[in-house]
Amino acid sequence: MSKVVLSYSGGLDTSVCIPILREHYQYDEIVTVTVDVGQPESDLKKAEARAGKLSDKHYTVDAKNEFVEKYLFPLIKANGNYEGYTLGQAIARPLIAKKVLEIAEREHVSAIAHGCTGKGNDQLRFEAVFRASKYKIHAPMRELNLTRSEEIEYALEHDLDVPITFEKPYSVDENLWSRSIEGGRLEDPSCIPPEDIYKWTTAPTKMQGKLLLSLDFAKGIPVALDGAQVSGLQLIRKLNEVAGKFGVGRTDLIEDRVLGLKAREIYEHPAATVILTAHQELEALVLTRLERRFKAQVEAAWAELIYQGLLDEPLTAALDAFINKTQERVTGSATLLLHKGTATAVARSSPKALYSEALVSFNDKSLDQRDAEGFSKYHGFQSRAYNKFVKD
Ligand code: ARG
Repeated sequence: MSKVVLSYSGGLDTSVCIPILREHYQYDEIVTVTVDVGQPESDLKKAEARAGKLSDKHYTVDAKNEFVEKYLFPLIKANGNYEGYTLGQAIARPLIAKKVLEIAEREHVSAIAHGCTGKGNDQLRFEAVFRASKYKIHAPMRELNLTRSEEIEYALEHDLDVPITFEKPYSVDENLWSRSIEGGRLEDPSCIPPEDIYKWTTAPTKMQGKLLLSLDFAKGIPVALDGAQVSGLQLIRKLNEVAGKFGVGRTDLIEDRVLGLKAREIYEHPAATVILTAHQELEALVLTRLERRFKAQVEAAWAELIYQGLLDEPLTAALDAFINKTQERVTGSATLLLHKGTATAVARSSPKALYSEALVSFNDKSLDQRDAEGFSKYHGFQSRAYNKFVKD
């Protein structure tokens, strides 16, 4: 008996993989695994129902809390951002891959399969984890060089009942941190996205009214919303709903993939925008200028590693160690105003603030302004020298 485990989302690519693994790769037994990283309950149910018809055995693995605490909390501390992308899909992939590997062990399979194409980043992220194991790896979409239209045709011929049509051929990936939409007409970067691709956010131009909300952080982690303690999972769900109504967290992006291809991707991420904006606001209050400048460089390197799926790279752990050190003082709160698609910080406070109202105030004499005169004499010294003696 040959047996394979398939990382299964329930969408087009991975559903098409099941009959292909049977017919083309000649596996007798196919085990599907869907990892719950906060996709809608209805998607999980549909994946279960489809797997029930197509595969021999199915697992749904609840990894929501692990996703929040071990993956999203470090991302928040690192202000996770790659070219404007909040990294929701990228950071989930290593966790999904690890859970699929656990099932592979339990089920004594000989191979692992995934539905990623050969053009994207996800093949690299999954295989960065899978290739550390003893299992054979199959990527049917890539190996058979299938186009999305060929997949749709194949799904129709095999009566696979997937929710993709030639009219709406989008590839959508959804988890707690973001919803990404690509493909179809969106592949033309000059095409303005139709409003019906959005699900988490109301059109910012349509939205009336405004809302103030405050977030408390302890050591870089969000712990309370409007003064009430919440778990990370509750907070993210709540903010996706509340801030999404204000049209907060839409990104239409030209993105540089790891392979070098440029792609157009659209994202919705209301909670991520609110949390990251509040977190950065608090950091501005408590970290020194030198820490902030250096951390920005660390964050860029960290985001690059996460985008590539290299969570197990020792540099990632080293950068996390630096980031965690800075977060020891990131405690306090920030208040944001949500209005027509924006989330703007309007107030912040912290017991660890380096800000001194007395020192900076226009109405205080404890710093003698006259002491700054010597400093100002030297400031710009080299520029003046250049303009006076060197420039013709
Ligand atoms: N471009 C994003 C990334 O590389 C999302 C990839 C998956 N998106 C999708 N719609 N299937 O992380």
